[in-house]
Amino acid sequence: MNAPAKTDKFVVQNAAVKIPDGVYAETVLSVEHYTDRLFRFRMTRPAGFRFRSGEFAMIGLMVGDKPIYRAYSIASPSWDEELEFFSIKVPEGPLTSHLQAIKPGDTVLMRKKPTGTLVLDALTPGKRLYMFSTGTGIAPFASLIRDPETYEKFDEVILTHTCREVAELKYGFDLMEEIRNHEFLAEVVGDKLKHYPTVTREDYPFQGRITDLMESGKLFTDLGVPPLNPEVDRGMICGSAAMLKDTKDLLEKAGLTEGANNKPSEFVIERAFVG
Ligand code: A2P
Repeated sequence: MNAPAKTDKFVVQNAAVKIPDGVYAETVLSVEHYTDRLFRFRMTRPAGFRFRSGEFAMIGLMVGDKPIYRAYSIASPSWDEELEFFSIKVPEGPLTSHLQAIKPGDTVLMRKKPTGTLVLDALTPGKRLYMFSTGTGIAPFASLIRDPETYEKFDEVILTHTCREVAELKYGFDLMEEIRNHEFLAEVVGDKLKHYPTVTREDYPFQGRITDLMESGKLFTDLGVPPLNPEVDRGMICGSAAMLKDTKDLLEKAGLTEGANNKPSEFVIERAFVG
């Protein structure tokens, strides 16, 4: 079967299905599988679709004759001509069990309005920006670390990424490599960006939950930075519900207060992905 072209119809399980009104229907351009649990894909960006780096959109597929959507951080920066997403594969997941099988040429649906709290506008000015992520929680930061505005606003950007296994860190390493080799980003980013990958269930030079590494102070010693200080440090958090809570508690203990789009402050959390 040939991959369907981008029309108002597309084919799932050999049935021609009408695309719902009022949503974008975009074409998959590339898919990369990292592990049996993780993959990323890139797709066309609709003309006129605007978003702020760090926001999420509702991504979907027609399954049978019904669209199924789930919130996905847009992993590409706001200037990119294409859209990138980083996804988990849940074997019985209503969307991801289908999404993990997409191929270039397939159609993916996207609702028209992006939103989210992990945006630079929700933070008050500071010097050092921490991005705390676990698992696919790295996705909004994949967008923000590729946005020059992040480096206009902060002198130092620290991306922490904690996963169960070493193989799950690969997307983060690929992003660093891409930035280092990028025509204009390499210069904009310079040595401002630090990547701090850690693993919890395998041997690795940097081991442990980010919360434990903050509490012990090892994170700060390893990075050669002082402990958290609300005058200069800002934070963004994206991960599981438990990780969000535990990381938030530590930031609050250090004197940072939570902000939002309509009330910028010292750290922000994305709660859209947790049940
Ligand atoms: P751990 O292996 O100790 O559970 P998950 O896939 O379950 O979302 O986990 C992704 C990563 O987040 C794992 O390395 C996991 O560590 C870590 N993690 C899970 N819960 C927390 C938490 N409450 N605080 C910090 N890190 C956490």
